[in-house]
Parts: sequence; C-alpha cells; structure tokens
Amino acid sequence: MQAETTGRRNAVPTVRGRRQHQYWLLDLYGSAIGKKAVMAVTGIVLLGFVFAHMTGNLKVYYNDDGESLNHYSEWLRDVGEPVVPHEGLLWAVRGVLAVSLLLHVHAATTLTLLNRKARPVAYKGGRKYAAADYAARTMRWSGIIVAAFLVFHLLDLTAGRANPDFVSGQPYQNLVASFEREPVAAAYIVANLLLGMHIYHGAWSLFQSLGLNHPRFNRWRRGFAALFAAAIVVGNVSIPIAVLTGVLD
Ligand code: HEM
Repeated sequence: MQAETTGRRNAVPTVRGRRQHQYWLLDLYGSAIGKKAVMAVTGIVLLGFVFAHMTGNLKVYYNDDGESLNHYSEWLRDVGEPVVPHEGLLWAVRGVLAVSLLLHVHAATTLTLLNRKARPVAYKGGRKYAAADYAARTMRWSGIIVAAFLVFHLLDLTAGRANPDFVSGQPYQNLVASFEREPVAAAYIVANLLLGMHIYHGAWSLFQSLGLNHPRFNRWRRGFAALFAAAIVVGNVSIPIAVLTGVLD
C-alpha cells in the first residue's frame, strides 16, 4: 500500500511523509540560515568543552606535584563505572565533540563556498569591512590554525607521539615536560591567542545566528563574548608561561 499524507506540510508521518521530512532537514542545511544554525549549535558544544577543559587545566595550580590534575584525569576515565565500561563516558563525550567539530568545519566550509557562489566577482578595490572587526575577518584562518594546533596537542598530551618524555597516566608531568620546550610553549600561546579571537567573534555571532539579536541586548552580547574569550585565553596561556618561568615544575 502506498502511504499518503494529507498534502499539508509536516503532515502525520507516513512512509512518504517521513521521507519528505528528511529532505526538509537537508534542504534547511543546504541554506545559509541552516548552516549558520548548525555552526551556532555545534559552536555552543565546543565552547562548553573549551571552558570546562580550561577550568580542569587550572588544577595544575594546586601545590601538590600534579596530584590533583592526575586524579582528575583518572576520574574522567572512571566516571560512570560500573554502569558503563571503563572510559565509556569519556568516549561518548569524545564522540559528541568529534561530530560537533566535523559539522562545525563542514558548515563553515560550505557556507564560504555558498557565499562565493552568490558573489563570484571580488569586491572592486578590495572588500570594505565597515562592520566587521579584526576577529571576524580572521575567522577562517584562526579556525584552520586552531584545528592544526588541536592535532599537535592530541599527539603531544593524549597520544604522546609528539612528546618524547610522555608517560601514560601522568598528564601533569607530561604537560610540564612539553612546555619546557620553548618553541612548543610558544606554539601553545599563539594558538590560544588565535583561539581567543575565534571564540570572541564566534560567541558574539552565534546569538545572531540563533535569531537573538536586539539593539538592547547587543552590548551585553559583546561583553559576554569578550569576557568568555578572555577567561579561556588567560586561563590557558598562563600555564605554559608558568612552566617557562619556573612557577610550575
Ligand atoms: C595551554 C592550554 C592547554 C593545556 C595546558 C591543555 C592540557 C591538556 C592535557 C593535560 C590533556 C590530556 C588530559 C588527559 O589525558 O587526561 C589535554 C587533552 C585534550 N585537550 Fe587540551 N590543553 C590546552 C588547550 C586545549 C585547547 C585550546 C583545546 C581545544 C581547542 C584542547 C583540547 C583538548 C582535547 C580535545 C583533549 C583530549 C581529551 C580526551 O579526549 O582525552 N586543549 N589537554
């Protein structure tokens, strides 16, 4: 039997109706507005992670030879046991983060291509950035460099391939050993400054993408974005600096 809908949009789901609904979602993702919504929602997930990660990293400042950070890292692997297997929740969170990151990058790339298609001819005399500030203009490059940093960071402090002194289960000692290499510490500082710029513009524009845009609300939006980005940068950058200056060893 061929199932039918009533002909109205979002009619009772039938075999055909369900298919129409799927296309409707894909159609939405194909539009600039759908891509912006995906970027905003995945951006919120990634902002939440970056903030939680920064606050977790601050455990290095307990004066206990890294015991707090190492215990925290152990807890991330044990949490949920025995209801879920060892590292079960950690892998679930890793999965959500990986999907969010992939969707974020895909939406950003396809949105750029869509915009180029809409305006294939470059602006005469160079583009005028009246409303866009420096952070907004550098979103693409800051995003690409932060993504490259992330690959190095995972090889350095999670897999240990880029850290000759890496010992599994000892994140504090690994972190100190890594930041004692000055070029590596410098790379972390630069990447986190770029991440701060990316977050500043991202946190500001995600409200717009979600339709939360009102003149009275805009000052608050900018303040929130600036404060959020500054907290991430100061918290993260302080750590390689603390190692380089001998505050942490
Ligand atoms: C100076 C700043 C940073 C420090 C000191 C730091 C420190 C660490 C450490 C010690 C680990 C290993 C944790 C463990 O094995 O339990 C780790 C993992 C990780 N970091 Fe960072 N991190 C920094 C910045 C960042 C930034 C900016 C991002 C994202 C853009 C990031 C994303 C990650 C991810 C995805 C993991 C892997 C988590 C996992 O799945 O186990 N980190 N970081």
